[in-house]
Amino acid sequence: MQHDPKIIVALDFPTSAEVIRHAEQLEPSLCRVKVGFESFLHGGPALVDALMELGFEVFLDLKFHDIPNTVAKACAAAANLGVWMINLHAIGGTKMIAAAREAIDAEDHRPYLLAVTVLTSTDQSQHEATGFTNQVAEQVSILAANARQHGADGVVCSAMEAPQLRKEHTDDFLLVTPGIRPAGTDSNDQKRVVTPSQAIANGSSYLVIGRPITTADNPVEVLESIHVTLF
Ligand code: C5P
Repeated sequence: MQHDPKIIVALDFPTSAEVIRHAEQLEPSLCRVKVGFESFLHGGPALVDALMELGFEVFLDLKFHDIPNTVAKACAAAANLGVWMINLHAIGGTKMIAAAREAIDAEDHRPYLLAVTVLTSTDQSQHEATGFTNQVAEQVSILAANARQHGADGVVCSAMEAPQLRKEHTDDFLLVTPGIRPAGTDSNDQKRVVTPSQAIANGSSYLVIGRPITTADNPVEVLESIHVTLF
């Protein structure tokens, strides 16, 4: 079978040393890893390099949102780090997404470009407080369609929205879903949680999982136990 683990472990730690210490407890054949603002602001490109040295493919989760030229330059720089996946906010607009696509396509190494739809922390009342009058689900569909049309390889969304998006898009459009919790584990601050196998059944392509793995006494055991439920 082709090497394509479905789990992306969110390595959200305040120091590079902790990120690396946790990564060393994982297994690249079972997962990719995600580096977000906190870890990247501490460790920068050297941290990304160190994770790739350990054999991991890296999702650089910096959620770019700025004018098209600025985002395009940021995407080119991110692509040059050799990462597997990068992302931007779909709400930044179709021109921004298209500029990002063009910039990535000009690079030798071309990571997947994902567009964040509506953050899973945004509920209907927050959505309306921002000035939107439509439903969150409708907004997710609009942003995903725009993202695809302008060159994104997929979207970050809730696994609860995956069935709807899977009806609207073919399987090659990636759905990357955080808010995943194995049955019986702590939801932490996540509000709308879905189990790993349900997320895959809903049409998710990759599952972002943080604390259920990173706070476990034996992270690789938890990783393995989730991994086997996905096939
Ligand atoms: O620990 P936990 O499994 O909740 O980690 C989820 C990860 O996914 C975190 O890094 C969080 O920033 C990220 N994320 C999220 N919801 C989104 C987008 C990203 O939880 N909508």
